[in-house]
This record gives sequence, structure tokens and C-alpha cells, in this order.
Amino acid sequence: MSKSFYVTTPIYYVNDKPHIGHAYTTIACDVISRYMRLQGYDVKFLTGTDEHGQKIERAANSQGKTPQQLVDEIHVKFKDLWQVLNISNDDFIRTTEERHIKTVQKIFARLLSQGDIYKSKYEGLYCVSCENYVSESNMGENQTCPDCGSKLISMQEESYFFRASKYVPDLIKYYENNPNAIKPVTRYNEIMSFLRGGVKDISVSRTSLKWGIPVPGDENHVIYVWFDALINYLSALEGEDYKKFWPGYHVVGKDIIRFHCVTWPLMLIALGEKLPAGIIAHGWWTIKGGKMSKSKGNVIDPLDMINKYGLDPFRYFLMREIPFGADGEFSEEALIGRINSDLANDLGNLLNRTLQMIKNYRAGIVPSCNESNSPLRELAQEIISKVDNFMKDFAFDNALKTIWEFISRSNKFIDETTPWILAKNNESERLNYVLLNLYEALRLCAVLINPFMPETSEKICSQLGCELEISDWYAGAGNKINKGDILFPRIDLKQEKKEQEKMSDNPEVKPESKESELITIEDFAKVQMRVGQITSCEEIPRSKKLYKLSIDLGSETRTVCSGIKEYFTPDELTGQKIILVCNLKPVKLCGVESNGMILAASVKSEGKLTLLTPLDENIPLGSVVS
Ligand code: MSP
Repeated sequence: MSKSFYVTTPIYYVNDKPHIGHAYTTIACDVISRYMRLQGYDVKFLTGTDEHGQKIERAANSQGKTPQQLVDEIHVKFKDLWQVLNISNDDFIRTTEERHIKTVQKIFARLLSQGDIYKSKYEGLYCVSCENYVSESNMGENQTCPDCGSKLISMQEESYFFRASKYVPDLIKYYENNPNAIKPVTRYNEIMSFLRGGVKDISVSRTSLKWGIPVPGDENHVIYVWFDALINYLSALEGEDYKKFWPGYHVVGKDIIRFHCVTWPLMLIALGEKLPAGIIAHGWWTIKGGKMSKSKGNVIDPLDMINKYGLDPFRYFLMREIPFGADGEFSEEALIGRINSDLANDLGNLLNRTLQMIKNYRAGIVPSCNESNSPLRELAQEIISKVDNFMKDFAFDNALKTIWEFISRSNKFIDETTPWILAKNNESERLNYVLLNLYEALRLCAVLINPFMPETSEKICSQLGCELEISDWYAGAGNKINKGDILFPRIDLKQEKKEQEKMSDNPEVKPESKESELITIEDFAKVQMRVGQITSCEEIPRSKKLYKLSIDLGSETRTVCSGIKEYFTPDELTGQKIILVCNLKPVKLCGVESNGMILAASVKSEGKLTLLTPLDENIPLGSVVS
């Protein structure tokens, strides 16, 4: 029987587009999934979207949409981001899908019939304007709402309750016997003291909103969004999958551990199901020590980071920078620091130096050697098992640190053995030994980093001329290398800062100007626009958004960087007549100087863009637009 492994992310609310926090959890689950697949496990990696409840209903209302329209639109942003982030999920569940609704209603009905859900009255302090109950511990001064400041009123409402309290002793006993069920230990302790403090029965239905799964047989009530959402972990396991994969590991942020470590296991005990194999709580990314928030305008969009720094460096940074479980500070300086030191200096240089020497001294063919032992070979065994332990403990930062110990040791091996002197002195056998061992070290690194940086791992294998596999040390002798581009060009922090400042002045990169002030005709006349024609369109290697365009204005040709890559292919653009703003200050974007901006109109809700072109196709190039 094959070994199986089931891992889940939380399902994300679709009231807004995804940010770095969502990317973090999902990348972590991707890393562990890829690792377990390499270990021969049959993996199911589930992610998805949480589409019911008040948050969604409100967001839809405020945007003049129906909740269904909103969730249909936003869930795609998550799916698309996972593609860009190279996420290898096996399934994506939406709580508005039939398979989920069916399972939730079945579970509700079952708990109702066995007496673990009962109807009663919910009493509490309620905010009329937010349509929300507020707990005593959350409310503001003088019984006010913490969100809008309104005076809270006492309310009573009919509600269904889940008999959570009944199963608390069972859960405490379970956790006492399974202290590894919640990681890290600080969260385990937090949950244990919460449980020992007593848990009340949980209200699991609402009459105050419509956007939810109806309670079977009582359509005035919809099922509470968390009761609905948690069940996704089971509703995605239909038929054989259930037998094969349940129970699994839930990776979640520290803010939602009570739902995962208390509510969900209590529901599972009531249902007679096995409890999760583990609940792994990670910390939060902060910006300048504080929370990211829309109002502060400091929410990090993962797409921006990938466009600027590349996908694998971003994935690496998130997994390496902070211990999984702890909070940590996100900054582009720190990201650039990691790229320059860990990726360019350590890993990039090891590959570059080794391949250059194999090329120079052995015509690109990996030599064999007679000596079987080497310090790198010995260390390799130790590293593989250390990495394995860390990975199975979800200690991604430590796994990476361990891999980098090996990379540093390999770089040191070059300095110790001075292959260039061996070559000069014709110490051929010794040189073969050094080159082969370095080659083998890199072959192993390609496998070890694969779950974290899959694209880089493939590039390394292709340059090494080998397959992605752990095989015998020295099995690579005889391979032919294909030395290629530098993996990670170094980034000049000062230059990058300057470019960032310029970019934030550039309307093409930051399209949403918040100023709605009126301008005079003289102001408008300052903008010089001309008809041009795109004569060539090239990709910019470091950028996922930008194209480098050559624009013929009749009397001159301009180079313009334009952030339209996701909307058009180079073929669609080449030959097009466009309108160019030609008196913008030049700006350097991803290393290319841009001299102007082409005009386009966007239909944001549909994610479409259309270029402004002159109606008369024969209009001469360079004609002034006013
Ligand atoms: N819909 C619920 C989860 C239901 S699971 C049955 C939910 N969704 S969420 O979209 O608000 O948050 C999802 C995850 O993103 C949470 O695990 C949360 O911890 C994580 N993050 C949100 N902001 C974060 C950071 N700034 N840093 C790291 N992760 C954070 O909760």
C-alpha cells in the first residue's frame, strides 16, 4: 500500500484579493506537498475559498454586486495567483459547490438527529449597524461596538447550538496523549488552557443573514460560516479519497487556531471521526512592526514581489526568513539581502564556479575518480536526514538552514582544495576528485531545494545535465554539463530604492491616482501625445508584467516599458498603431530605460485591457494628439 499524506490550507475569504499572508500559508503547504511527493507519498494538497457569511454579503453589498457575483469573481484571483506561485494543489474547493453544501447539510442533520445540535435562544450584545454580536471581551468602552463605535443593544435570537461542551473532556484527554497534535508548543499550551477554562456550546446558525447554507428543514436559518467552512476538509474527500487521506494536517495562521484546535476537533469527536493528524500554526507577517492593513495602504501584493524579484527568491525568502510559527517582519531590504547573500553568493556561485571549472578543465564532461570518501559525501548523508526531520516537523527555515550549511561547506571545499592550482600543477586525479564531488554536491542540492524553488531546481539540473533524483554519490560521472545563465543576478539595493521611488511617480506602474482634483486646459496641454507604431515587442527577463516596446514616431524611435504583458502577446502588439505620451521623464524599470507611456483603457472588473488606437489607420506616425 502506498503511503499517503493529506495537507490543507485554510480556505480563504473572498471579500478581497489575496495578499502575502495567503501566499505564505499556501506556499508552505506547497513545499511540504512537493517534499512528500519526492519521498514517494501519495499526496493530496487541498486549498480553496470560504465563500459564505456576513463578510462576503457585506462586501458584495458595498460593491453593488450579488454575493454570488462577488465570489465568482474573486475566487479566480486566488486560483490565478496559485498558478503564478507554482502551487501544486491537487484540489481547490469552494464552499458554494454542491459537493460541499451536500456534506455540510448531511453533517448538520446528523448532529441534529443525534441530539448534538439543538435549538435554543442566543442572547448577547448586538451592533445594529454592523449586524453583529460582540463578545464582552471584544467590546469598546460603555458597551460600544469595537468596529463602528455604535452603542450595543441586548438581543435575543433563535439559534441552533452545537453541544461542544459535552466533548471537551474527551478532547483534553486526546491532547494530553498527543502533545504533537498542535504545533508549535506555545499554541498547544494556549489551547490546553483555553479548553481547561471550559467551553460553552457554540451557536451554529444565523437568522440575520441570507448568504449561507440553509439549515436542512428550517430555511429561516443559515448555517454559521465557520461550521460550514471547517467541513471543507472532509467534503473534499469523496469516496476512496476519504479512506486514503483522512486524517490530514491543517496548516493555519495563529489567529484561527481556536476554530481548528477546538471547534473542529469537537465536531469530529461528535461525528465519531478521527482527529486531524496535526494542526500547524504559523505566525504573522508584519510591516514595520505592525499589522498589514488596507487602511494603512501597506498590504503586500505577492504579484508585485514576484514581478520585481522573481518567483523562487520570493518563495525562498518566505520559507527562510522566519521560523514557521513565529511572527516576522517583511521588508524588501531583507528580501534583497537574502537574494544577494544566500542565492547569488552561496548557491549561485557554487554552481557557477563548479560548472566553469568542469568546462575549463574537463571540456564540460564530469570526470570520474578513484577516491571514494570525501568530506562532502559524508556530510551529505547527515544533511539528508536532518532535512527530513525538519521537514516532517514543518520547520522549513531549519531545513533551509541545513541545506545552506551544505552549500557553504561545498564552497569552502573549493577554497580548501584550490582546483585552479591542481589544474596548473597537472594533479589530474585529485582535480577529478574535487570536480566530481562538487558536481555531486550540486546534484543533491538540486533535489533538496526542489520543494522550495522548483523552477531553480530544474534549471540547476538542466545546467548539470542530470535528472532530478537522489542516486548514488558519483553516479553523475560522465554527464555532460550545459553551463547557462547566472541563476540569481545580484540586486543593487541603492539602485533598487531609486527605481522604486521613480516607479511610484510613474502612473503606468501605479495606475490608481487617488486625487480627483480638476485640472485646467493648460495643465492638460502639458501632456504631449503623438501617434506611434509598435515595431517590436520583447520580454524583460526580470519582469512578469513589463514588455520592452520599440515605438516608431516617424522622426524618431522610442523605447518604452509597458506593463501590459499579461494582456497581450508580442504578436498582437507588433504593428499596432498607438497613442504615446512622449514628454514623461525617462524612468528605469527592471534595468530598461523607458521613454514614454502608451495609452490603454482597462475594464478592471473583467481584467481586460484595450489599447487606444487612431481610427484612421493611415494617419502619419508622429501626428499630434490633443
Ligand atoms: N476563511 C477563514 C478560514 C477558514 S478555514 C476553515 C479565514 N480566511 S482569511 O482569508 O481571513 O485568512 C486565511 C489565512 O491567512 C489565515 O490562516 C491567516 O492567519 C492568514 N493570514 C492573514 N494575514 C496574515 C499575515 N499578515 N501573515 C501571515 N498570515 C496571515 O480566516
